[in-house]
Amino acid sequence: MRKNTKKITELVLKAARKARQEINDEPEPNLTKHIKWPVECIVGPGLEGAIACESKIGYVNGTKGCLIYRGYDIFDLCAYSTYEEVSYLLLRGSLPTASQLKVFKKELVDCRNVPNTLRLLFNFPVEEMNPMAALRIGVNLMRQEFTYVDQDDSSLAEVDIGTDEDSIPMETVPRGGKRAIYEFKIRQRDKKLKLLKNKLKTAVGYESCFHLISGVASIAAAIVRIQQGHFPIDPDPSLSHAANLIYMMTGKKPSPEEERIMDIMLILHADHGMNASTFAAMVVASTLSDIYLSIGSGIAALNGPLHGGANERVLHMLREIGDVKNVQSWYKNARKKKRKIMGFGHRVYKAYDPRARILSPLAGYLAKNNEESSSLFQISQSLEKEVTSTLGIEKNIFPNVDFYSGIVYHALGILPRFFTPMFAVSRVAGWTARVKEYLGNNRIFRPRAMYIGPFNKQYVPIEERGNKP
Ligand code: SDX
Repeated sequence: MRKNTKKITELVLKAARKARQEINDEPEPNLTKHIKWPVECIVGPGLEGAIACESKIGYVNGTKGCLIYRGYDIFDLCAYSTYEEVSYLLLRGSLPTASQLKVFKKELVDCRNVPNTLRLLFNFPVEEMNPMAALRIGVNLMRQEFTYVDQDDSSLAEVDIGTDEDSIPMETVPRGGKRAIYEFKIRQRDKKLKLLKNKLKTAVGYESCFHLISGVASIAAAIVRIQQGHFPIDPDPSLSHAANLIYMMTGKKPSPEEERIMDIMLILHADHGMNASTFAAMVVASTLSDIYLSIGSGIAALNGPLHGGANERVLHMLREIGDVKNVQSWYKNARKKKRKIMGFGHRVYKAYDPRARILSPLAGYLAKNNEESSSLFQISQSLEKEVTSTLGIEKNIFPNVDFYSGIVYHALGILPRFFTPMFAVSRVAGWTARVKEYLGNNRIFRPRAMYIGPFNKQYVPIEERGNKP
């Protein structure tokens, strides 16, 4: 099997060579320098072009189509690194030594168990919810699992507040105090959970970031299981982050190829500058709300079909086209209706998204093993040609990460409704890293709106208003 994972690395390096032949990755001077506030920038609708902050975490070169994390090119990270190593890089700023990575991996493994969160989450109708809505609730419930950020009485932090599986919260001794005190016989908590609780005293520390990176994967996997009519599966501490994610969703340990490709998917979705969901998370964090609520906002923003939700729509679009011989007529019709072609275009990339350059050959590689994936891949190749030879020339509209990610997830056996939760499982590393970085020099985000309404309106009592507005 090692041979096949080597083949996957070669596909990534081949895509890298092609990209490097076509573009030089000269950074854009006006977007890669220190800021002296106030900064002048030309701002378009949707804050296009606005500079929100300085960052060392990642850079998207939209004119050339390059992506770097902490100075490392995405092609090299996908070819040689792992999601755990990249998460460490995004959070800490440098690639870990072998011993640092060992410690970090153990921290992530220790955070995989979120039993209380899942028990609380299953009070909700998870089986019929939008998976991203369920994931967002799950992340907010994680907050209760260990942090006591809401407790205004620190003595409570020492009391193990929890309910037994077979009992419901009731007051045992009415105290008339300002908060109901639920006391039950205290279940012997798992020693590790106790250790973790003692570390997670604040909801903006690195431990909370690790907790979220692991917890979001566990919650997403549990939602996938429940929505497919199965019980959740406990994490396997012996597996990598990518392999454990697949295992917790399917109950099967992935092949080395599947693990390798999932790991690459997690790496290349991990961070992407000031995208809508990262910015949403940072806006919430800038009010000094905590990182769990911030990540919940990131999940909410990612759900939108113009952002993370596009990958699911791409698969529906390819299935709607149905066959490669329908592509031209379908596309002609879509253009006539001025339809947005899902998986194409980008606020920043006016060139080929480097992540699509990596995902296209991987989708082709996986498509060989599955009839439907193969047909979807052929349709995608033909549609890409149609779009890039028209909108690509007219409006610099090229494939983005979502155009091929759906075919890869589909080939890994993941249902379209779970594609965007997979995106969130990866992006939580970038969200937490950027929230942490921004809080290091925080200023609450508060842009302006241009007021174009009236002035000096006279107040008229309702009885004199008649029916005229
Ligand atoms: C992601 O920000 C990030 O980094 C996001 C992301 C990340 O990693 O976090 O990269 C992930 O969100 C990728 C994008 C996934 N979304 C889609 O694939 C949905 C389809 N794409 C479009 O909705 C659109 O391209 C956006 C939303 C991605 C970007 O839109 P913009 O920058 O607001 O561009 P726009 O809507 O103002 O369009 C400019 C012109 C318009 O034509 P005109 O009105 O000027 O004639 O380009 C056209 C648009 O109609 N256009 C498209 C198009 N995208 C833009 N026309 C057809 N198909 C498209 N996909």
